[in-house]
Amino acid sequence: MFNFTHHNPTKLIFGKGTIPKLAGEIPSDACILLTYGQGSIKQNGVYDQVMQALAGRTVLEYGGIEPNPQYDTLMPAVELARREKVDFLLAVGGGSVVDGTKFIAASIPFEGDPWDIVAKRAPLQSAVPIGVVLTLPGTGSEMNMWSVISRDSARAKLPFGSPLVYPRFSILDPETTYSLPWRQTANGIVDTFTHVMEQYATYPADAPLQDRMAEAILLTLIEEAPKVLENPHHYAARANLMWCATVALNETIGVGVPQDWSTHAIGHELTALYGIDHARTLAIVLPAVLDFKREPKRAKLLQYAERVWGIREGDENARIDEAIERTRGFFEGLGLPTRLSAYGLGRECFSEVASLFAQHNPNPVGEHEDITAEHIPAILERSL
Ligand code: NZQ
Ligand code: ZN
Repeated sequence: MFNFTHHNPTKLIFGKGTIPKLAGEIPSDACILLTYGQGSIKQNGVYDQVMQALAGRTVLEYGGIEPNPQYDTLMPAVELARREKVDFLLAVGGGSVVDGTKFIAASIPFEGDPWDIVAKRAPLQSAVPIGVVLTLPGTGSEMNMWSVISRDSARAKLPFGSPLVYPRFSILDPETTYSLPWRQTANGIVDTFTHVMEQYATYPADAPLQDRMAEAILLTLIEEAPKVLENPHHYAARANLMWCATVALNETIGVGVPQDWSTHAIGHELTALYGIDHARTLAIVLPAVLDFKREPKRAKLLQYAERVWGIREGDENARIDEAIERTRGFFEGLGLPTRLSAYGLGRECFSEVASLFAQHNPNPVGEHEDITAEHIPAILERSL
Protein backbone atom coordinates (compact mmCIF):
# COMPACT_ATOMS: atom_id res chain seq x y z
CA MET A 1 0.00 0.00 0.00
CA PHE A 2 1.21 3.52 -0.74
CA ASN A 3 1.60 6.11 2.02
CA PHE A 4 -1.36 8.43 2.40
CA THR A 5 -2.88 11.26 4.44
CA HIS A 6 -6.62 11.11 4.88
CA HIS A 7 -8.58 14.13 6.06
CA ASN A 8 -12.15 14.56 4.90
CA PRO A 9 -13.76 17.37 6.90
CA THR A 10 -17.33 17.09 5.55
CA LYS A 11 -19.96 16.35 8.19
CA LEU A 12 -22.53 13.95 6.77
CA ILE A 13 -26.11 13.95 8.03
CA PHE A 14 -27.94 10.98 6.57
CA GLY A 15 -31.50 9.73 6.61
CA LYS A 16 -35.21 10.33 6.36
CA GLY A 17 -36.45 13.69 7.63
CA THR A 18 -33.00 15.22 8.20
CA ILE A 19 -33.40 18.44 6.17
CA PRO A 20 -34.53 20.50 9.22
CA LYS A 21 -31.12 19.81 10.77
CA LEU A 22 -29.52 22.26 8.37
CA ALA A 23 -30.69 25.11 10.61
CA GLY A 24 -28.20 24.05 13.25
CA GLU A 25 -25.32 23.80 10.76
CA ILE A 26 -25.34 27.35 9.38
CA PRO A 27 -24.31 30.31 11.57
CA SER A 28 -27.49 32.15 12.62
CA ASP A 29 -26.24 35.54 11.39
CA ALA A 30 -25.06 34.26 7.99
CA CYS A 31 -26.11 35.87 4.73
CA ILE A 32 -27.02 32.70 2.83
CA LEU A 33 -27.16 32.19 -0.91
CA LEU A 34 -29.33 29.20 -1.77
CA THR A 35 -28.28 27.73 -5.13
CA TYR A 36 -30.31 25.23 -7.12
CA GLY A 37 -30.97 23.76 -10.54
CA GLN A 38 -33.73 24.08 -13.05
CA GLY A 39 -36.74 23.51 -10.88
CA SER A 40 -36.90 19.93 -9.58
CA ILE A 41 -36.60 21.08 -5.96
CA LYS A 42 -39.71 23.23 -6.35
CA GLN A 43 -41.70 20.27 -7.66
CA ASN A 44 -40.67 17.62 -5.14
CA GLY A 45 -41.07 19.67 -1.98
CA VAL A 46 -37.35 19.92 -1.14
CA TYR A 47 -37.31 23.70 -1.65
CA ASP A 48 -40.20 24.10 0.81
CA GLN A 49 -38.47 21.92 3.39
CA VAL A 50 -35.26 23.94 3.08
CA MET A 51 -37.04 27.31 3.30
CA GLN A 52 -38.96 26.12 6.34
CA ALA A 53 -35.71 25.09 8.02
CA LEU A 54 -34.27 28.55 7.24
CA ALA A 55 -37.29 30.57 8.39
CA GLY A 56 -36.21 33.90 9.84
CA ARG A 57 -32.73 33.75 8.24
CA THR A 58 -31.31 36.02 5.56
CA VAL A 59 -31.62 33.93 2.40
CA LEU A 60 -30.98 34.98 -1.19
CA GLU A 61 -31.64 32.59 -4.07
CA TYR A 62 -29.95 31.72 -7.31
CA GLY A 63 -31.63 29.07 -9.47
CA GLY A 64 -31.11 27.83 -13.00
CA ILE A 65 -27.82 25.93 -12.66
CA GLU A 66 -27.93 23.41 -15.49
CA PRO A 67 -26.56 19.86 -15.81
CA ASN A 68 -22.82 20.15 -16.59
CA PRO A 69 -22.78 23.58 -14.92
CA GLN A 70 -21.67 26.38 -17.19
CA TYR A 71 -19.18 29.08 -16.28
CA ASP A 72 -21.48 31.66 -17.91
CA THR A 73 -24.40 30.61 -15.71
CA LEU A 74 -22.33 30.67 -12.53
CA MET A 75 -20.68 34.06 -12.90
CA PRO A 76 -23.86 36.10 -12.23
CA ALA A 77 -24.15 34.22 -8.92
CA VAL A 78 -20.57 35.21 -8.08
CA GLU A 79 -21.44 38.86 -8.78
CA LEU A 80 -24.65 38.64 -6.73
CA ALA A 81 -22.79 37.08 -3.80
CA ARG A 82 -20.04 39.71 -3.89
CA ARG A 83 -22.57 42.55 -4.07
CA GLU A 84 -24.74 41.22 -1.24
CA LYS A 85 -21.80 40.07 0.91
CA VAL A 86 -22.97 36.47 1.01
CA ASP A 87 -20.97 34.46 3.55
CA PHE A 88 -22.56 31.00 3.28
CA LEU A 89 -23.60 29.02 0.19
CA LEU A 90 -26.25 26.32 0.40
CA ALA A 91 -26.38 24.03 -2.65
CA VAL A 92 -29.64 22.11 -3.03
CA GLY A 93 -29.69 19.62 -5.91
CA GLY A 94 -27.55 17.11 -7.80
CA GLY A 95 -23.86 17.02 -8.62
CA SER A 96 -24.12 19.91 -11.05
CA VAL A 97 -25.55 22.27 -8.44
CA VAL A 98 -22.96 21.17 -5.89
CA ASP A 99 -20.08 21.50 -8.38
CA GLY A 100 -21.36 24.86 -9.59
CA THR A 101 -21.61 26.07 -6.00
CA LYS A 102 -18.04 24.98 -5.29
CA PHE A 103 -16.96 27.13 -8.22
CA ILE A 104 -19.00 30.09 -6.93
CA ALA A 105 -17.47 29.61 -3.45
CA ALA A 106 -13.96 29.67 -4.86
CA SER A 107 -14.63 32.57 -7.24
CA ILE A 108 -16.17 35.05 -4.77
CA PRO A 109 -12.86 35.92 -3.04
CA PHE A 110 -10.68 35.13 -6.07
CA GLU A 111 -8.60 37.99 -7.42
CA GLY A 112 -8.26 37.72 -11.17
CA ASP A 113 -10.25 35.84 -13.79
CA PRO A 114 -12.15 32.99 -12.09
CA TRP A 115 -11.89 30.86 -15.23
CA ASP A 116 -8.20 30.46 -14.30
CA ILE A 117 -9.33 28.39 -11.29
CA VAL A 118 -10.41 25.74 -13.77
CA ALA A 119 -8.32 26.36 -16.87
CA LYS A 120 -5.01 27.05 -15.11
CA ARG A 121 -5.69 25.32 -11.79
CA ALA A 122 -4.88 28.66 -10.16
CA PRO A 123 -4.21 28.15 -6.43
CA LEU A 124 -6.95 29.32 -4.05
CA GLN A 125 -6.34 31.36 -0.91
CA SER A 126 -9.87 31.08 0.45
CA ALA A 127 -13.43 30.08 -0.37
CA VAL A 128 -16.86 30.87 1.03
CA PRO A 129 -18.18 27.95 3.14
CA ILE A 130 -20.67 25.58 1.52
CA GLY A 131 -23.44 23.33 2.81
CA VAL A 132 -25.28 20.78 0.67
CA VAL A 133 -28.71 19.19 0.52
CA LEU A 134 -28.20 16.41 -2.03
CA THR A 135 -31.07 15.22 -4.24
CA LEU A 136 -29.23 13.00 -6.76
CA PRO A 137 -26.64 10.43 -5.66
CA GLY A 138 -23.83 9.61 -8.06
CA THR A 139 -21.08 12.17 -8.34
CA GLY A 140 -19.83 12.02 -4.74
CA SER A 141 -19.45 15.81 -4.86
CA GLU A 142 -21.29 16.07 -1.53
CA MET A 143 -18.23 14.74 0.30
CA ASN A 144 -15.23 15.55 -1.83
CA MET A 145 -13.14 18.51 -2.93
CA TRP A 146 -13.78 18.19 -6.66
CA SER A 147 -15.87 20.16 -9.09
CA VAL A 148 -16.28 19.92 -12.86
CA ILE A 149 -17.13 23.10 -14.78
CA SER A 150 -18.08 23.49 -18.43
CA ARG A 151 -17.64 26.41 -20.78
CA ASP A 152 -19.23 25.72 -24.13
CA SER A 153 -17.68 28.72 -25.86
CA ALA A 154 -14.24 27.23 -25.06
CA ARG A 155 -15.43 23.64 -25.77
CA ALA A 156 -14.19 22.81 -22.28
CA LYS A 157 -15.36 20.62 -19.42
CA LEU A 158 -12.65 20.65 -16.79
CA PRO A 159 -12.21 19.61 -13.15
CA PHE A 160 -10.67 21.60 -10.34
CA GLY A 161 -10.08 20.53 -6.76
CA SER A 162 -9.22 22.24 -3.50
CA PRO A 163 -9.55 21.28 0.16
CA LEU A 164 -11.18 24.71 0.59
CA VAL A 165 -14.33 23.56 -1.23
CA TYR A 166 -15.16 20.46 0.79
CA PRO A 167 -18.75 21.04 1.93
CA ARG A 168 -18.90 21.90 5.65
CA PHE A 169 -21.90 19.57 5.86
CA SER A 170 -24.05 17.53 3.53
CA ILE A 171 -27.58 16.39 4.23
CA LEU A 172 -28.58 13.19 2.45
CA ASP A 173 -32.25 12.34 2.78
CA PRO A 174 -32.93 9.34 0.51
CA GLU A 175 -36.59 10.36 0.27
CA THR A 176 -35.55 13.38 -1.81
CA THR A 177 -34.50 10.91 -4.53
CA TYR A 178 -37.98 9.37 -4.97
CA SER A 179 -38.80 12.00 -7.59
CA LEU A 180 -35.79 11.23 -9.79
CA PRO A 181 -36.62 10.09 -13.32
CA TRP A 182 -35.21 6.59 -13.89
CA ARG A 183 -32.68 8.04 -16.34
CA GLN A 184 -31.07 10.12 -13.57
CA THR A 185 -31.19 7.28 -11.04
CA ALA A 186 -29.51 4.97 -13.55
CA ASN A 187 -26.94 7.63 -14.45
CA GLY A 188 -26.05 7.93 -10.76
CA ILE A 189 -25.59 4.17 -10.42
CA VAL A 190 -23.27 3.98 -13.43
CA ASP A 191 -21.32 7.05 -12.31
CA THR A 192 -20.82 5.43 -8.89
CA PHE A 193 -19.87 2.08 -10.44
CA THR A 194 -17.28 3.76 -12.64
CA HIS A 195 -15.82 5.81 -9.78
CA VAL A 196 -15.21 2.53 -7.96
CA MET A 197 -13.72 0.84 -11.03
CA GLU A 198 -11.29 3.69 -11.63
CA GLN A 199 -9.87 3.23 -8.15
CA TYR A 200 -9.99 -0.57 -8.25
CA ALA A 201 -9.31 -1.91 -11.74
CA THR A 202 -5.63 -1.03 -11.85
CA TYR A 203 -2.91 -3.33 -10.45
CA PRO A 204 -2.62 -5.11 -7.09
CA ALA A 205 -1.18 -2.88 -4.38
CA ASP A 206 -1.43 -5.17 -1.35
CA ALA A 207 -4.52 -3.28 -0.24
CA PRO A 208 -7.10 -5.98 0.43
CA LEU A 209 -9.30 -3.69 2.54
CA GLN A 210 -9.64 -1.11 -0.24
CA ASP A 211 -10.23 -3.95 -2.72
CA ARG A 212 -12.97 -5.53 -0.66
CA MET A 213 -14.63 -2.21 0.10
CA ALA A 214 -14.64 -1.46 -3.63
CA GLU A 215 -16.13 -4.87 -4.41
CA ALA A 216 -18.73 -4.37 -1.68
CA ILE A 217 -19.91 -1.15 -3.33
CA LEU A 218 -20.09 -2.80 -6.77
CA LEU A 219 -22.05 -5.76 -5.42
CA THR A 220 -24.40 -3.48 -3.50
CA LEU A 221 -25.13 -1.44 -6.62
CA ILE A 222 -25.85 -4.61 -8.60
CA GLU A 223 -28.20 -5.87 -5.86
CA GLU A 224 -30.03 -2.63 -5.10
CA ALA A 225 -30.54 -1.20 -8.61
CA PRO A 226 -33.35 -3.58 -9.62
CA LYS A 227 -35.23 -2.84 -6.39
CA VAL A 228 -35.41 0.85 -7.23
CA LEU A 229 -36.29 0.16 -10.85
CA GLU A 230 -39.22 -1.91 -9.64
CA ASN A 231 -40.25 0.47 -6.87
CA PRO A 232 -38.89 4.06 -6.96
CA HIS A 233 -40.14 4.54 -3.36
CA HIS A 234 -38.08 1.63 -1.95
CA TYR A 235 -36.52 3.53 0.96
CA ALA A 236 -33.85 1.00 1.89
CA ALA A 237 -32.63 0.61 -1.69
CA ARG A 238 -32.62 4.40 -2.23
CA ALA A 239 -30.64 4.81 1.01
CA ASN A 240 -28.13 2.14 -0.01
CA LEU A 241 -27.58 3.67 -3.45
CA MET A 242 -27.06 7.07 -1.85
CA TRP A 243 -24.51 5.83 0.66
CA CYS A 244 -22.70 3.83 -2.03
CA ALA A 245 -22.31 6.95 -4.16
CA THR A 246 -20.81 8.93 -1.29
CA VAL A 247 -18.38 6.23 -0.17
CA ALA A 248 -17.32 5.59 -3.77
CA LEU A 249 -15.75 9.03 -4.07
CA ASN A 250 -14.99 10.39 -0.61
CA GLU A 251 -11.44 8.99 -0.56
CA THR A 252 -12.29 5.89 1.49
CA ILE A 253 -11.53 3.31 -1.21
CA GLY A 254 -8.94 5.35 -3.10
CA VAL A 255 -6.37 5.92 -0.37
CA GLY A 256 -3.08 4.11 -0.74
CA VAL A 257 -3.90 2.56 -4.11
CA PRO A 258 -3.17 3.39 -7.76
CA GLN A 259 -5.96 5.10 -9.67
CA ASP A 260 -6.89 5.35 -13.34
CA TRP A 261 -9.11 8.30 -14.26
CA SER A 262 -8.77 7.84 -18.02
CA THR A 263 -12.43 6.87 -18.47
CA HIS A 264 -13.54 10.14 -16.86
CA ALA A 265 -10.99 12.16 -18.83
CA ILE A 266 -12.21 10.74 -22.15
CA GLY A 267 -15.86 10.90 -21.06
CA HIS A 268 -15.60 14.61 -20.27
CA GLU A 269 -14.57 15.24 -23.90
CA LEU A 270 -17.60 13.30 -25.16
CA THR A 271 -19.83 15.52 -23.02
CA ALA A 272 -18.06 18.69 -24.12
CA LEU A 273 -18.33 17.75 -27.81
CA TYR A 274 -21.65 15.95 -28.09
CA GLY A 275 -23.58 16.83 -24.92
CA ILE A 276 -23.89 13.19 -23.80
CA ASP A 277 -24.81 12.86 -20.08
CA HIS A 278 -21.74 12.36 -17.88
CA ALA A 279 -22.62 8.80 -16.79
CA ARG A 280 -23.59 7.83 -20.32
CA THR A 281 -20.12 8.72 -21.56
CA LEU A 282 -18.66 6.46 -18.85
CA ALA A 283 -20.87 3.55 -19.93
CA ILE A 284 -19.30 3.82 -23.38
CA VAL A 285 -15.69 4.38 -22.34
CA LEU A 286 -15.17 2.15 -19.27
CA PRO A 287 -15.64 -1.24 -21.01
CA ALA A 288 -13.38 -0.06 -23.82
CA VAL A 289 -10.60 1.05 -21.45
CA LEU A 290 -10.78 -2.23 -19.52
CA ASP A 291 -10.38 -4.17 -22.77
CA PHE A 292 -7.65 -1.91 -24.16
CA LYS A 293 -5.63 -2.12 -20.93
CA ARG A 294 -6.34 -5.77 -20.17
CA GLU A 295 -2.64 -6.68 -19.88
CA PRO A 296 -1.57 -4.20 -17.20
CA LYS A 297 -4.95 -4.65 -15.48
CA ARG A 298 -5.01 -8.45 -15.86
CA ALA A 299 -4.71 -9.46 -12.20
CA LYS A 300 -7.37 -7.04 -11.02
CA LEU A 301 -9.73 -7.86 -13.89
CA LEU A 302 -9.53 -11.55 -12.98
CA GLN A 303 -10.25 -10.67 -9.36
CA TYR A 304 -13.17 -8.48 -10.50
CA ALA A 305 -14.51 -11.31 -12.68
CA GLU A 306 -14.42 -13.77 -9.83
CA ARG A 307 -15.46 -11.70 -6.84
CA VAL A 308 -18.04 -9.42 -8.46
CA TRP A 309 -19.47 -11.58 -11.25
CA GLY A 310 -18.67 -15.08 -9.90
CA ILE A 311 -16.78 -16.02 -13.08
CA ARG A 312 -14.40 -18.92 -12.36
CA GLU A 313 -14.52 -21.07 -15.51
CA GLY A 314 -12.49 -20.70 -18.68
CA ASP A 315 -9.05 -19.36 -19.51
CA GLU A 316 -7.96 -15.94 -18.32
CA ASN A 317 -8.88 -14.04 -21.45
CA ALA A 318 -12.28 -15.66 -21.62
CA ARG A 319 -12.96 -14.71 -17.99
CA ILE A 320 -11.91 -11.11 -18.63
CA ASP A 321 -14.06 -10.99 -21.78
CA GLU A 322 -17.01 -12.24 -19.82
CA ALA A 323 -16.47 -9.74 -16.99
CA ILE A 324 -16.39 -6.88 -19.50
CA GLU A 325 -19.52 -8.23 -21.18
CA ARG A 326 -21.28 -8.50 -17.81
CA THR A 327 -20.30 -4.88 -17.11
CA ARG A 328 -21.80 -3.81 -20.43
CA GLY A 329 -24.87 -5.91 -19.69
CA PHE A 330 -25.34 -4.23 -16.31
CA PHE A 331 -25.13 -0.75 -17.82
CA GLU A 332 -27.38 -1.65 -20.77
CA GLY A 333 -29.87 -3.26 -18.39
CA LEU A 334 -30.14 0.06 -16.58
CA GLY A 335 -30.85 1.76 -19.90
CA LEU A 336 -27.41 3.22 -20.63
CA PRO A 337 -26.09 2.33 -24.09
CA THR A 338 -22.45 1.24 -24.16
CA ARG A 339 -21.82 1.92 -27.85
CA LEU A 340 -21.07 5.19 -29.63
CA SER A 341 -23.42 4.13 -32.42
CA ALA A 342 -26.36 4.62 -30.04
CA TYR A 343 -25.58 8.34 -30.28
CA GLY A 344 -25.08 8.32 -34.05
CA LEU A 345 -21.30 8.51 -33.63
CA GLY A 346 -18.73 6.50 -35.58
CA ARG A 347 -15.01 6.56 -36.38
CA GLU A 348 -15.27 10.13 -37.68
CA CYS A 349 -15.44 11.40 -34.07
CA PHE A 350 -12.11 9.85 -33.02
CA SER A 351 -9.82 12.63 -34.17
CA GLU A 352 -12.03 15.35 -32.69
CA VAL A 353 -12.11 13.58 -29.30
CA ALA A 354 -8.36 12.92 -29.44
CA SER A 355 -7.46 16.51 -30.24
CA LEU A 356 -9.59 17.94 -27.42
CA PHE A 357 -8.19 15.29 -25.06
CA ALA A 358 -4.63 16.31 -26.03
CA GLN A 359 -5.46 19.92 -25.32
CA HIS A 360 -6.84 19.16 -21.84
CA ASN A 361 -4.43 16.40 -20.82
CA PRO A 362 -0.86 17.56 -21.45
CA ASN A 363 0.39 14.65 -19.32
CA PRO A 364 -0.44 10.97 -19.92
CA VAL A 365 -3.24 9.50 -17.77
CA GLY A 366 -3.93 6.06 -16.31
CA GLU A 367 -2.37 4.22 -13.36
CA HIS A 368 0.84 3.79 -15.35
CA GLU A 369 0.60 7.26 -16.90
CA ASP A 370 0.72 5.77 -20.35
CA ILE A 371 -2.57 6.75 -21.97
CA THR A 372 -2.32 9.67 -24.38
CA ALA A 373 -4.42 11.17 -27.16
CA GLU A 374 -2.87 8.80 -29.68
CA HIS A 375 -4.55 5.86 -27.91
CA ILE A 376 -8.04 7.36 -28.14
CA PRO A 377 -8.94 5.76 -31.51
CA ALA A 378 -7.89 2.28 -30.30
CA ILE A 379 -9.96 2.74 -27.13
CA LEU A 380 -13.10 4.13 -28.78
CA GLU A 381 -12.87 1.54 -31.58
CA ARG A 382 -13.80 -1.04 -28.93
CA SER A 383 -17.11 0.73 -28.24
CA LEU A 384 -18.24 1.58 -31.75
O1 NZQ B 1 -31.82 21.00 -12.47
P1 NZQ B 1 -32.91 20.29 -11.76
O2 NZQ B 1 -34.26 20.80 -12.07
O3 NZQ B 1 -32.65 20.19 -10.28
O4 NZQ B 1 -32.95 18.77 -12.34
C1 NZQ B 1 -31.86 17.88 -12.27
C2 NZQ B 1 -31.16 17.69 -13.62
O5 NZQ B 1 -32.04 17.92 -14.68
C3 NZQ B 1 -32.41 16.49 -12.02
N1 NZQ B 1 -32.62 16.19 -10.59
C4 NZQ B 1 -31.73 16.26 -9.58
N2 NZQ B 1 -32.29 15.82 -8.44
C5 NZQ B 1 -33.57 15.49 -8.73
C6 NZQ B 1 -33.79 15.74 -10.10
N3 NZQ B 1 -34.97 15.50 -10.71
C7 NZQ B 1 -35.97 15.01 -9.94
N4 NZQ B 1 -35.82 14.74 -8.61
C8 NZQ B 1 -34.64 14.95 -7.99
N5 NZQ B 1 -34.49 14.61 -6.69
O6 NZQ B 1 -31.43 15.62 -12.54
C9 NZQ B 1 -30.80 16.22 -13.66
C10 NZQ B 1 -29.33 15.96 -13.62
O7 NZQ B 1 -28.74 16.61 -12.50
P2 NZQ B 1 -27.15 16.78 -12.37
O8 NZQ B 1 -26.88 17.47 -11.09
O9 NZQ B 1 -26.60 17.34 -13.63
O10 NZQ B 1 -26.66 15.26 -12.32
P3 NZQ B 1 -25.45 14.59 -11.58
O11 NZQ B 1 -25.64 14.55 -10.12
O12 NZQ B 1 -25.25 13.32 -12.30
O13 NZQ B 1 -24.21 15.59 -11.85
C11 NZQ B 1 -23.48 15.53 -13.03
C12 NZQ B 1 -22.31 16.53 -12.99
O14 NZQ B 1 -21.36 16.18 -11.96
C13 NZQ B 1 -20.06 16.08 -12.53
C14 NZQ B 1 -20.35 15.63 -13.93
O15 NZQ B 1 -19.26 15.80 -14.80
C15 NZQ B 1 -21.54 16.48 -14.29
O16 NZQ B 1 -21.13 17.78 -14.67
N6 NZQ B 1 -19.19 15.20 -11.70
C16 NZQ B 1 -18.71 15.68 -10.54
C17 NZQ B 1 -17.83 14.97 -9.76
C18 NZQ B 1 -17.31 15.50 -8.49
N7 NZQ B 1 -17.60 16.75 -8.14
O17 NZQ B 1 -16.59 14.80 -7.77
C19 NZQ B 1 -17.36 13.64 -10.14
C20 NZQ B 1 -18.16 13.03 -11.23
O18 NZQ B 1 -17.34 12.08 -11.86
C21 NZQ B 1 -18.69 13.97 -12.24
O19 NZQ B 1 -17.69 14.29 -13.19
ZN1 ZN C 1 -18.25 10.58 -12.58
